[in-house]
Amino acid sequence: MCGIVGYAGTESAGPIVYSGLENLDYRGYDSAGIALVDRELTVTKRSGEVSELSVPDRPNATCGIGHTRWSTHGPPTDANAHPHTSQNESVAVVHNGIIENYESLKGQLLKEGHEFSSDTDTEVIPHLLEREIEDGHDLLSALERVVDLLDGSYAIAAVRAGSDEIVATRHESPLVVGHGDEGAFLASDVTAFLDHTRDITYLEDGDIVTLEAGTVNVYHDGEIVDREIETVEWDADAAEKGGYEHYMRKEIHEQPTALRQTLSGRIDLERGDADLDIDFPQGYLESLEEIQLVACGTSYYASQYAAQLLEETVDVRATVEIASEYEFDGGRDPWRTLVIAVTQSGETADTLRAVRHAAEAGARTLAVTNTLGSTVTRETDDTAFIRAGPEISVAATKTFASQIATLALLTVAIGRERGTLSSADARDILENLRELPGAVQQVLDEEDAVVEAAREYRDSDAFFFVGRRFGYPVALEGALKLKEISYDHAEGFASGELKHGPLALVSKKTPVLAVLTAGADSNETMNNLTEAQTRGAPAIGAVSNGASVSSLDCALTVPIVGVFEPLIANVYFQLFAYHVANMKGRSIDKPRNLAKSVTVE
Ligand code: G6P
Repeated sequence: MCGIVGYAGTESAGPIVYSGLENLDYRGYDSAGIALVDRELTVTKRSGEVSELSVPDRPNATCGIGHTRWSTHGPPTDANAHPHTSQNESVAVVHNGIIENYESLKGQLLKEGHEFSSDTDTEVIPHLLEREIEDGHDLLSALERVVDLLDGSYAIAAVRAGSDEIVATRHESPLVVGHGDEGAFLASDVTAFLDHTRDITYLEDGDIVTLEAGTVNVYHDGEIVDREIETVEWDADAAEKGGYEHYMRKEIHEQPTALRQTLSGRIDLERGDADLDIDFPQGYLESLEEIQLVACGTSYYASQYAAQLLEETVDVRATVEIASEYEFDGGRDPWRTLVIAVTQSGETADTLRAVRHAAEAGARTLAVTNTLGSTVTRETDDTAFIRAGPEISVAATKTFASQIATLALLTVAIGRERGTLSSADARDILENLRELPGAVQQVLDEEDAVVEAAREYRDSDAFFFVGRRFGYPVALEGALKLKEISYDHAEGFASGELKHGPLALVSKKTPVLAVLTAGADSNETMNNLTEAQTRGAPAIGAVSNGASVSSLDCALTVPIVGVFEPLIANVYFQLFAYHVANMKGRSIDKPRNLAKSVTVE
């Protein structure tokens, strides 16, 4: 989820591309760069924020592309920043997304004598384009040929020395064209060029577009196609949020894309295995006795979900510790204990303290984080990135889903290596994971039903969330989300515990929201929910497709994805928290007293 900007027109391109990058910078990217073309191609790029980047000194260049990077392949260094150039530096490319098969493409290009200067997946693209151009193709047909070689999700924009044309394409990654008086604009997000034009065209998957001063042509399957020009009515603030009123809602809706990025290139269905690119020492995983997950807040609940998965599916002892309470118990064998720090920001002081503690005791440590270059990545032995893209809202949403998906991949990798997970069982998990983005989308499409439930129950005295097994951490996370942003009293319980105390709090003004899906012992939970319902509490259930729901006051349907159904139920809870808080006019993205990253113990 990086940012692409392009301009081809009559004005000097440098300042226009630069201001486009500044407009995208609100997400806090880690590197940036610009390529301008006239007779020559001139590229400047570096790690750091856009404000640290200087515009190439080519005032007469009227065509250029730019990029802000949120690293996924390779750390945020100058060399890894985009644009990337071809062997003879005549082609420059910016790219969002992931090229899943870049290693094999790179291997082939290396054999042909190409040299690479970065760790990125992107760099293969300009090299492939140059190869086609040397075979006599123009940039448009070169890109048409190259996309046939690429697997993955991407938005790509390319320029070539000696030409005033940008050629771009998209597949599962946004790209929008702007039609202005002074030329044509391109961006991954309209925010980039709203100062220049509000007339835009959203490209569709598989479209290839050429932009020159005054001319935009969209091709699909080799034919020119007509794409609608729409007028954007949003103001700049709303545009930064992709037209949503709050980042939180935008990020809830980004979950299918975030999950695709999390999973991209990491699943090997044929072998029934997953690859997170972590090199554990030979024999280490086989001899492991315990995995300890340490985390805070939402990351803690994601860890609970993962621990359940580790214990149930690969038969390894997995414990979860609140990071601020963590001590490495001297009775444990450090060599046989893997400590996993799960942290979106990679900067949470409590989690860092726990990791240091574990490392001092001699345990191997692994970070599962969203943030390249963060402190946790420097202090642990290995890192797995969750690749959810920047999350601005204080209340974590998409990162919860991507953390669980990443830890599920790790679970498969560990189980396969230890020989405790058959390839058939691994394939089941991996297939369910692959269904996740589509399943989340189905829930997002049901948002109106959640709005209705929020309207009906928003003025309740308190909200209780219940679930079992994988549904239990989701109940805790559902309650956390609601209390964080609505300031209402919300509690999560293991369903079975409801009768051991909390039932005393239940009344007709306390709705109970339950996880009634696969992986959550839904029959037992239904019994517990009925106990609350008979005492007057409204019963709201996130229910597996096809389950009987007639007794519920509100039933929200969860698509079938096995042990990940509670994770999907959580999307309903996120939307419920959001709409309750929104109806109350709360400060949703920045709730009172809370911070996105807590860097004190
Ligand atoms: C803060 C945030 C929470 C987050 C927690 C852990 O309390 O408000 O949303 O879950 O920190 O953050 P981390 O970056 O370590 O996942």
